[in-house]
Amino acid sequence: MKRRTFLGSLAAASSISGIAAADEPKAPGVDNVKLLSPPVIQNPGEDAFTVAWAVSGMATGWVEWGTTPELGKQSIPAHHGLMSMSEYALSARIENLPTDTPIYYRTVTIPIHYKNAYAIERGTPLVGKTRKLKLPTAEASSCSLTMVNDTHDHADTLNALAKRIEAINPDAHLWNGDACNDFHNPQLMARICLTPGQHKDQPEHGGWASTRPLLFVPGNHDVRGRDARTMPEALTPWPLNDDDPHRLAPTPLAMGRYCFAKRIGPVAIIGLDTGEDKPDNRDVFGGMAAYEPYREAQRDWLLKVLQQNEIKNAPYLLAFCHIPLIGLEGENDGTGDTGYASYSGFGQQLWLKPLVDAGCQMLFSGHTHRHRIDKPSQAFPIYQVVGGGPKTKDARLIHIQADNKQLNVKVEDLNQTTVNAVTLKPRS
Ligand SMILES: [Fe+2]
Repeated sequence: MKRRTFLGSLAAASSISGIAAADEPKAPGVDNVKLLSPPVIQNPGEDAFTVAWAVSGMATGWVEWGTTPELGKQSIPAHHGLMSMSEYALSARIENLPTDTPIYYRTVTIPIHYKNAYAIERGTPLVGKTRKLKLPTAEASSCSLTMVNDTHDHADTLNALAKRIEAINPDAHLWNGDACNDFHNPQLMARICLTPGQHKDQPEHGGWASTRPLLFVPGNHDVRGRDARTMPEALTPWPLNDDDPHRLAPTPLAMGRYCFAKRIGPVAIIGLDTGEDKPDNRDVFGGMAAYEPYREAQRDWLLKVLQQNEIKNAPYLLAFCHIPLIGLEGENDGTGDTGYASYSGFGQQLWLKPLVDAGCQMLFSGHTHRHRIDKPSQAFPIYQVVGGGPKTKDARLIHIQADNKQLNVKVEDLNQTTVNAVTLKPRS
């Protein structure tokens, strides 16, 4: 008997016996899978990007793309011979794009009923809308960015922010941490990470980052909950470089790092992950916190990227991290035995001097839920802009616009009232 036939009949026999049949999930019908989010563009390179999207049940999929609406190319996510499959979020990396031309793309999702290795049923393809994406480039003459933080899954705040971001139409949108309170199941994780800005009645439409990239910076809440380890499946890490330090990859599932350096027009942008707000040895972490070596690895990474020409020679250098690096007088820096960080003493010790020495002009943070701007001081010769909180009255949208003459930072509330503004001159 051929092996294939033998195994096939074994599977058939066990289901007849009733044992396997009792264990089998009641298939809701392979075609019941739905798209639950718009595609979210992330990790933009000059010629590459990642796209992630949420699904309601087991599915595989790919991205079709091209330089015209006719598309013509396909990127299929797979590893060690297996195409990706998930019951909550799919993602694909699209590489080797022609540069400086709009890219058209769409997601294709195939519902899967995985009965056993010899009985895999495919449903009707769910073909997403074709969208047009212009990746930001280092050569651009200007740069427009929006930043929000600490949205904590507050629907009203997110809806208002997403609407405003759509109107501003920035080159890229930064989400500076605390997307959630915690991630206690993967479906919740995918919803929180991938649905901001979606149309209420058409979950696969809209989105705050389907025609521009999202630059995500993790916050201390985004590492909480049993299923925080699934976050890289939706908010995807940046591909590792060969010389990246050990410990930057957040999970074996998605080899990559959350710290990033990106040049858009005259602006060099650094993203750093401040991690949790307490020392690793606190009981609350159940012995599973490893942020201290992770922040050190980011310092080693930072020292290298600050030497890269596109960062070093940029007219402006900005850094983004969730927990502020500079505190107010008397605040807890999160390195001691009690309480939690209002600012990251660990981050300050490791990263602030290299950033200041490299001429970084401004830090952007969140975490405190209260907007403020700290002016450069003798001790800390750098601006620090802290964003707002999750409630609609506390939320702030930060709009950064730069050309070769000046960089303007405008802080708005949800009524679009400008509550603060700073202008920077290019670095000499
Ligand atoms: Fe927060």
